[in-house]
Order: sequence, then structure tokens, then C-alpha cells
Amino acid sequence: MEYIGKNDVEKAIIGRRTIKAFKPDPVDVEEIIELLNVAKWAPNHKLTEPWQFQLYTGDGKDVFVQSYIDSQPTVDGEVSDLVKRKANYFREIPLHLVVIMPEDPRQRRWDEDYGAVSTMIQNFQLAAWERGIGMIWRTNDWVYDPVFREGIGVKPGKKIVATLMIGYPKHIPAPKPRTDIRERLTIIDQ
Ligand SMILES: Cc1cc2nc3c(=O)[nH]c(=O)nc-3n(C[C@H](O)[C@H](O)[C@H](O)COP(=O)(O)O)c2cc1C
Repeated sequence: MEYIGKNDVEKAIIGRRTIKAFKPDPVDVEEIIELLNVAKWAPNHKLTEPWQFQLYTGDGKDVFVQSYIDSQPTVDGEVSDLVKRKANYFREIPLHLVVIMPEDPRQRRWDEDYGAVSTMIQNFQLAAWERGIGMIWRTNDWVYDPVFREGIGVKPGKKIVATLMIGYPKHIPAPKPRTDIRERLTIIDQ
């Protein structure tokens, strides 16, 4: 039987799932700020705190969704039905949080900053999960698209690490199995 965790931290790490289906119920922006203030205790080398956020809520979501639409290919000036369906789906998700990192030209600092932002995001996902708030970490092609980036005002020299789409879960998917870590572990003891 799969190990389910000994304490709250372990249970949250194992039990958290990526959420794609959300209830329409709003998520309080103040609660997101509180959770980000928890997540910022992530390790970050040289204390660069290399994270910036843009939070889209209410009518502000139109900026995010329109930038997505503008980044998509058109035929005779029209985007596809699939893009329109996705745009409607995005519009109905309560919050979009774009996580941005300054791209330090020094490779080492870039790597350290990306590691730090990733741990910060996972802290945020776990802390939110414990309060019943779910999300999906997205890195679709369009977050690299200059049209999307410009649309939401992300300047060159900044990396979009994630778009987090956030809300109360309507459906929690079953976990996808993970490989026993012994298969990935080499112990060198002499
Ligand atoms: C860096 C990163 C990028 C991701 N990008 C996407 C994405 O673009 N679309 C998506 O459906 N899930 C994305 N995910 C979520 C993973 O697909 C998900 O974590 C994985 O399927 C395992 O599911 P779980 O989080 O429920 O355990 C991303 C996760 C990470 C860490």
C-alpha cells in the first residue's frame, strides 16, 4: 500500500493534486496574499527573493484571457473554436496568478533563482491545499509568446515561471503513480 504520510506536512505533500476543474466560488485575494506571505519563506540563495506576481481577478482576468487569445493563430482573423473554449474556461477560473522571475545573466544566479521560485510556488501550492484551495501550475507554449508577454506587461529580461490558475476544486483527480525512490537512488557507502 502507498505510504500516505505521518504528519500534516507529509500528508499535504502526498495528497496535493493539480486541479483543473474549479467551483465558481470566489477566492479571497487577501487570503492569497496571506498564503504568498507564508510561501515566501522558501529557501533562496543570497536572499534575492527572486519572485514577482501579477494577480488577475474579476474584470482584470480579461487582460490575461485576451492576451492568451491574441497570442493564438487566426484564420481569416478568427481564432479556432478550441481557443474560444479554452478562453471561456480560463475566464471562469476565479484567479490567475502569474509568477515572474528576473533573468539574471549569470548562469549560476539564474539557476539559483529558478530553484528558489519553484520552491516558493510549491510552498504556496501546499499551504493553499491545506486551506482547501486548489490550482494548476501551467507553462503552456503561449507563456513564452511575445504577444502574450507584452499583453500582460512582462518586460524582456523577465521569465514567466508559472501561470497558476486558482480556485476551490470541483473535482480532485486520482493521483498519478510515482516510482519508488529506491529506483532513482544510488547509495554510496564506501
Ligand atoms: C514546471 C511545471 C510545469 C507544469 N506545466 C503544466 C502545464 O502546462 N499543463 C498541465 O496540465 N500541467 C502542468 N503541470 C502540472 C503537472 O502536469 C502535474 O504536477 C503532474 O501531472 C502531476 O500531477 P499532481 O500535481 O496532481 O501530482 C506543471 C508542473 C510543473 C512543476
